[in-house]
Amino acid sequence: MTDAAAQSVGRPAHVQLRERCARLGLPTWRYSAGGHVIAPPAEQGVVGALLRSRTIELLVERAVQGWVAGQEATLTELFPGCWLIPLPDVHRRRRRAYTVAMALAPEALQSEQFLAACQSASLDAEATRSALRGIAVMDGRTVGRVADLLRWAQEDLQAMARGEHETGLMSRRLGESYEELALLYKLGQSMNQLDHPQRFVRSACAELHEVLAFRWIAARFSGDMRHAGAVAGEFFFHGELPAPVDQCSAEAEKLLRGMLGTDPVILAGEAAGVLGRDSMQVVLLPVFSEGILIGAIMAGQKFGDDPEVTSPDLKMLGAAAGHLSVLLENAALYERQQAMFMGTLEALTASIDAKDPYTCGHSERVAHLASSLALAHGLSAEQAERIRIAGLVHDIGKIGVPESVLCKPGKLTSEEFEQIKLHPEIGHHILRDIPMFDDVLPGVLHHHERFDGTGYPERLAGEAIPLIARIIGLVDAFDAMSSNRTYRRAMDRTQVLEEIRRGAGLQFDPQLAEDFMKVDLSKFDELLARAQQAAERKLNRFSHRPSVLGERAPAGSDAAPGAREEAA
Ligand SMILES: [Fe+2]
Repeated sequence: MTDAAAQSVGRPAHVQLRERCARLGLPTWRYSAGGHVIAPPAEQGVVGALLRSRTIELLVERAVQGWVAGQEATLTELFPGCWLIPLPDVHRRRRRAYTVAMALAPEALQSEQFLAACQSASLDAEATRSALRGIAVMDGRTVGRVADLLRWAQEDLQAMARGEHETGLMSRRLGESYEELALLYKLGQSMNQLDHPQRFVRSACAELHEVLAFRWIAARFSGDMRHAGAVAGEFFFHGELPAPVDQCSAEAEKLLRGMLGTDPVILAGEAAGVLGRDSMQVVLLPVFSEGILIGAIMAGQKFGDDPEVTSPDLKMLGAAAGHLSVLLENAALYERQQAMFMGTLEALTASIDAKDPYTCGHSERVAHLASSLALAHGLSAEQAERIRIAGLVHDIGKIGVPESVLCKPGKLTSEEFEQIKLHPEIGHHILRDIPMFDDVLPGVLHHHERFDGTGYPERLAGEAIPLIARIIGLVDAFDAMSSNRTYRRAMDRTQVLEEIRRGAGLQFDPQLAEDFMKVDLSKFDELLARAQQAAERKLNRFSHRPSVLGERAPAGSDAAPGAREEAA
């Protein structure tokens, strides 16, 4: 870029044109399209006084009025040796304003109009003549060429200004598009958080707050559990709210209830309640799920040069609202699918447990205890939930073990025991092709491994046994010892806990055995009591099966860890 070009950046074409005329010794005026003077000549001293004299002012004005009235705006001789060069700003064939340059020849300084002008401005003619001598250098032959040159210069300057304007516009649009793209990219990256829609909404608010000039961005959802799912009734925000969170949340809920249709809503002042503090605008973008309005993204207290909500703001907020709609719709579907899946799974495992009245509710209790032990061991709620699912399905392989073996009341033959020992592998085989069970599979396959390496199916030892399997193994044995079995009565709580302590480092991970002592067993006891009542009822109905209820397990009986049922 040349120096001249660098100087021209961002400055209007007419300003640059007048500067160029001044450098050539040509005074200029600026007139509006209606013929009113906007800027008189900038010259100082006697020259300036002469140019701004009433006589000259009237002469120039008359010429301009003629052009405004429709006369062709061409080179005009005001009086002998004094010409006006009209340089109209034309935009889409309409004149928007005029730059008017004056060219003087030496004879102009001898004219009667010159003398009249000096007189009207109380100027000494000789002194004025001498001041003007340096610029009154034109002649009739060259003034036409100068006029042409000036018009070309004006066209070039206007073209450059238009180019700059277009470039500026394009660069602003590019910037906006980039920000929108970056936002959509970031939101898109979090779109797989179907089981954590809250996280997604929070990050969407934070991203919008970073990109847009609003002091706060919020999202409010209706209490419609079916469509809003995990975010139902919630209020999220990022930035500085104009009032305490509770008040803002209540106001946002009120505004959400008043929303109709699919268009953005812009409110200001009182209409926006506490959110519209200081008469600032609040903008609301609807969020839908399955065609139902479930919430809105809101933004308020815009700052910077333009306090009004602009179309780029709406575009960006609308894009985020659209993404939220898609994610929440998917999340609600996912949640329903999950619930259906878990329901099916619970029904399936319960039906396996129900094959034998003595193991009724076993999987549900193991699932509950496994999750509690995981939390007591310091794992996250998320990990505990996965371990709960592993607990629920840990014995699913029993579906492949004949009922005659599974429910056999007496002692098992070694062949029958080998059949029972296959259930972890059968369970693993059943679940291995279901992607959502990937992290749960080790718990199913290894829940009968023992810490000392004498378990099955792979005789893994110590920490080589996956943690999930060590947790399930321990609570599985706890439940077995705490429940009645076909061949013995349940052990009491003190005895069971003693067995767990004794088995630390042998059957159980010693750290887990220690953590287990901190687990609250009240819910487990409730589940167990309910299952035992159900078992009693069932046994009373089918009293052909031997009942051991009321009998005590003899010391050293198979109720000890590692015995038949506990092993299975
Ligand atoms: Fe098992």
